[in-house]
Amino acid sequence: STNDHFINRIPKLELHVHLEGTLTPELRWQLAQRNDMSLHSLRLNKTFHTLEELKEAYNLLQPRSIKGVGLSAFFEAYYGGMEVLQTERDFHDLAIAYFGRAKEMGVVYCEAMFDVQAHTRRGVEIGTLMTGLGSAKKEAEVELGLKVNYIMCFLRDLSPEDAMKHYELALPYQDMIVGIGLDSNEYNRPPLLFGEVYRRAKKDGFKLTCHCDVMQKDTYEHIRQVACELGGTGADRIDHGLDAAEIPELVEKIKTKGIGMTLCPWAYVRHHKEENVFGYVRRLFDAGVLINVSSDSPAYVESNWIVDNLRLSKMMGGFTDEEIVKLQMDSVDMCWASEDAKGQMR
Ligand code: ADE
Ligand code: ZN
Repeated sequence: STNDHFINRIPKLELHVHLEGTLTPELRWQLAQRNDMSLHSLRLNKTFHTLEELKEAYNLLQPRSIKGVGLSAFFEAYYGGMEVLQTERDFHDLAIAYFGRAKEMGVVYCEAMFDVQAHTRRGVEIGTLMTGLGSAKKEAEVELGLKVNYIMCFLRDLSPEDAMKHYELALPYQDMIVGIGLDSNEYNRPPLLFGEVYRRAKKDGFKLTCHCDVMQKDTYEHIRQVACELGGTGADRIDHGLDAAEIPELVEKIKTKGIGMTLCPWAYVRHHKEENVFGYVRRLFDAGVLINVSSDSPAYVESNWIVDNLRLSKMMGGFTDEEIVKLQMDSVDMCWASEDAKGQMR
């Protein structure tokens, strides 16, 4: 929690959080011990002998220092960190640790993302992760009263064929998955490259979203494809897409189509000046776009949980308490809970 009691207290919706990105150094250390693994960083060419050493490596990935290190360092730490996730129980423990924390922060509904290929390519069976995540979802709902839906993301630096193969492998678990997304490195990987799997998923009843990271090569074209073309006529949501704020026609399109945007402002400080980040969030909100403020990969950036992102939006974007409540109401409108569950949140 933060020192902002209003933000701590109000019911919140987290719609953009990668479960693998909630893997704290503490939990990673614990899982490594349990699985009898030692921990290394390729980038730092280092073996971690203690939890303290591991925590220090995380300190190198803080928002201001990451500018020099680059997004690839984040990806390396993020995909490297996952190696400790081996068993059903590991995936369960990862998810429930985050859900417990979310509940403590006042989150009442969560759409949590997970990668499939990042695990299968390490030799983990899809059933292992899906069963572990499935039991954590049930536990969160029954024991914590936190409603959870999952968004399955494909790695866009892998092939569209591999995405389709994993889409089909995941179909037996369709009941716990509300939507599909695209994440990882988007350099020269436009959303429409994955057009076929998106059209198929739409036909099968999934909601559609796609990452458009900040300040990427082809940023505006990627946002345009997501807003106007993915799934035939455009996706239901854009993850990030902050740069749309620079193009009035894009803002108008996103607004009139009722496409929601999940923004994780603190993570963007890696790429943009702080004034621009919060100025753009503000501009989108003032234009009447449905936006949600979430955390993305909170364990890999200091002070980056949902409450921190909301507190920073208030401080640096000038959001009043009433506007913070409006953000939560807009989040209810754009989220993929059942109409019943939405009614309970309003
Ligand atoms: N996976 C986790 N966080 C991500 C991000 N910000 N962009 C792309 N892929 C990600
Ligand atoms: Zn993300």
